[in-house]
Amino acid sequence: MAGVQRRTVLAALGGTVAAGAGGTLGAGTARAASGTTVQGAAPERATQGGPVRNRPARNRQAARTLPYDDRVDSLLERMTVEEKLGQLQQLSWAFATGPGSPDNKKVEEAARSGRLGSVLNMFGAKDSNRLQRIAVEESRLGVPLLFGLDVIHGCLTTFPIPLAQAASFDPAVAERDGAVSALEARSNGVHWTFAPMMDVTREPRWGRIAESCGEDPYLTARFAAAKVRGYQGAEPGDLASPDRIAACAKHFAAYGGAEGGRDYNTVDVSESRLRNLYLPPFRAALDAGAVTVMAAFNTVSGVPAHGDAHLLTEILKEQWEFDGVVVSDWNGVQELVAHGFAADAADAARLSLNAGVDLEMVSTTLADHGAGLLDEGRISEERLDDAVGRILRLKSALGLFDRPYVKESAAVAAPSEQARAAARSAAARSMVLLKNDKGTLPLDKDTAGIAVVGPFADSADLLGTWTFPLAQENFRSGKLLDAVRAVARDAEVTHARGVDPAGEDTSGIDAAVAAAKAAEVTVVVVGEPPAISGEAAVRSELGLPGAQEKLIEAVADTGKPFVVVLVNGRPLTIGGWLDRAPAVLEAWHPGVEAGRAIADVLFGTVAPGGKLPASFPRSVGQIPVHYNHESSGRPYAADNKYTSKYLDLPPGPQFPFGHGLSYTTFAIGEPRLSRARIDAEALRAGETVEVTVTVRNTGRRAGDEVVQLYLHDVAASIAQPVRRLRGFERVTLAPGRGTTVRFRLGEEDLGFWSNAPEGELRVEPGAVDVYAGNSSRGGRKARLTIG
Ligand code: BGC
Repeated sequence: MAGVQRRTVLAALGGTVAAGAGGTLGAGTARAASGTTVQGAAPERATQGGPVRNRPARNRQAARTLPYDDRVDSLLERMTVEEKLGQLQQLSWAFATGPGSPDNKKVEEAARSGRLGSVLNMFGAKDSNRLQRIAVEESRLGVPLLFGLDVIHGCLTTFPIPLAQAASFDPAVAERDGAVSALEARSNGVHWTFAPMMDVTREPRWGRIAESCGEDPYLTARFAAAKVRGYQGAEPGDLASPDRIAACAKHFAAYGGAEGGRDYNTVDVSESRLRNLYLPPFRAALDAGAVTVMAAFNTVSGVPAHGDAHLLTEILKEQWEFDGVVVSDWNGVQELVAHGFAADAADAARLSLNAGVDLEMVSTTLADHGAGLLDEGRISEERLDDAVGRILRLKSALGLFDRPYVKESAAVAAPSEQARAAARSAAARSMVLLKNDKGTLPLDKDTAGIAVVGPFADSADLLGTWTFPLAQENFRSGKLLDAVRAVARDAEVTHARGVDPAGEDTSGIDAAVAAAKAAEVTVVVVGEPPAISGEAAVRSELGLPGAQEKLIEAVADTGKPFVVVLVNGRPLTIGGWLDRAPAVLEAWHPGVEAGRAIADVLFGTVAPGGKLPASFPRSVGQIPVHYNHESSGRPYAADNKYTSKYLDLPPGPQFPFGHGLSYTTFAIGEPRLSRARIDAEALRAGETVEVTVTVRNTGRRAGDEVVQLYLHDVAASIAQPVRRLRGFERVTLAPGRGTTVRFRLGEEDLGFWSNAPEGELRVEPGAVDVYAGNSSRGGRKARLTIG
């Protein structure tokens, strides 16, 4: 993102920007330690959280994502302050109790009185139309409501969890999930999903790693953009289509950095880490057209994101010129009080609106206190109009002023066969073969006897976090045991649960051992129930819960071949039993087609080709252990105690980022550069270096390989990661066949963001090592010089 200039609101209003001056702009700049502050046309109140003046959206020359609509201007002119504040309010619908219930009366009344802009957790064509009719036909101005829902990895058709999708290293998987989800959701009255989540994280203890794309900003950015395209379509005009929904880039920002992996916890980051690690996926999502952004629950260097003008206004709305809607997270505005940042609810309303939040989810601080704050001059009418304008223009872009209702007869009621096929293929493509000694996998479908054991072998609990009761109903024949029986028709397929997913009861292990002894091969299906994955599902230990490891040990003791299938939402510590298992397939939480997709890979109908999007630690004490760390002054050396290491662990993770095997083998050639040297100036002017890498299937089966390109900037003014991913491509090759993969490296790939709060992408002269390989370890190297 070359040449992004700091363009403050004040500058846009005719003020000037100077370094080192004394004023502050909102809460966020208070932490801009570099001393860059804003001078010039003074904000009305230069205290913490004073009003931030945004250019009224309608004055923008070219709205990037939300088109101009003169109905918005006309509405703004006619609205009372209460109606404007109403647009800034989102309330939750109690899905279980439905229309007219005491729980939902408040929502219906707010809609009727024009004091409601949006509703979350609404689903269903009939119910959504009913509530919409109240807003459109009974409120004074008839402004339609915006319905949002957490459609995270599927709506009726559950795709694999996002972490799994990232493991496919195939962004088309996310795009298909987005498109299928959009149709199913929109036809049921949902206009907007609170996805994709794009919080880069190095914390497997954090349950929400399941919702993320893991530890790498580039991989996450590619998936974020693809998912946005899937939800919204490629063109801005697509949003109004009956099969598209608005996306939400969340959580802005750095939520994945929570200390200790504890949900909602403190994050303290430098500006450069913020911009190099956490922000790139957001930028990519906005470039792909994402029309909304959700603020994060955490603090960023002391300032809660919901009150952080540096994040929400300076970076997002000014430097990136985001003209869409910033929604709070659930109760996130009110929580500024618990953070110890706002004195009370009114203060929270003031701080969040002034920082850049446009729409308040669930808490009602703006609706309750906005009018008083306005009278006292603590928020400005201009900022209020800006927020309302953004929300109205989103409604306009979604076509709600023209078509507020959905066609009830067109509501999708269950996954189509096509959608199921997409989910099955996505799940199979997401699986990662961690280990496969002596060709244990694939299984032969003509094997006489197969035992399928473990708590998840015959379980429907494989959908993962963030699914709806309706999705559970769709898990028809999705169990692995059924799928194995369907494939290995002539085999005797036996089953014993062995142990529960949690708890210490080992009384069922004997039956599992008996089944394993009687079979030629055993499939042991173990992992995490989805309930311990996702939001507020943090673990301090990452082994298999309960007595599951004992089950693996007992099966191993039989001396017969077996395969472990892991179904889980995060990297686990598997070192305790890994050596005893001949083969391990990481299947994650695979979604509605779990059973068939796992069987596809186990029997080799689909070749496993996924790669780890997050490192698997050897032990919890080793966390964070990510591939893209910086070097210390004393990098690990086996023969030197005084280097960076644990005394009681080998270096590095159990399995690194990018690792994943195949049923065949590949040879990846050295990276060839189109030029060995390029000027920083040329890069800034848009020139690129082409890198070509050959890849050949050297085995006897067809298979997939992911060619991965990593960079290391050898010496820079801010120490750089030892490696960082800047390109990947998944290819399918028949035995003996090869192909050439091409990457382009430009300014953004070769540069890095400095600590400047205004956003400065530096490209510095010096050497850059370019690695090509099939994981973040090893590979072959070429050197590029930036002149
Ligand atoms: C989560 C968000 C989610 C929201 C609405 C919050 O608890 O952090 O990601 O979109 O709830 O359900």
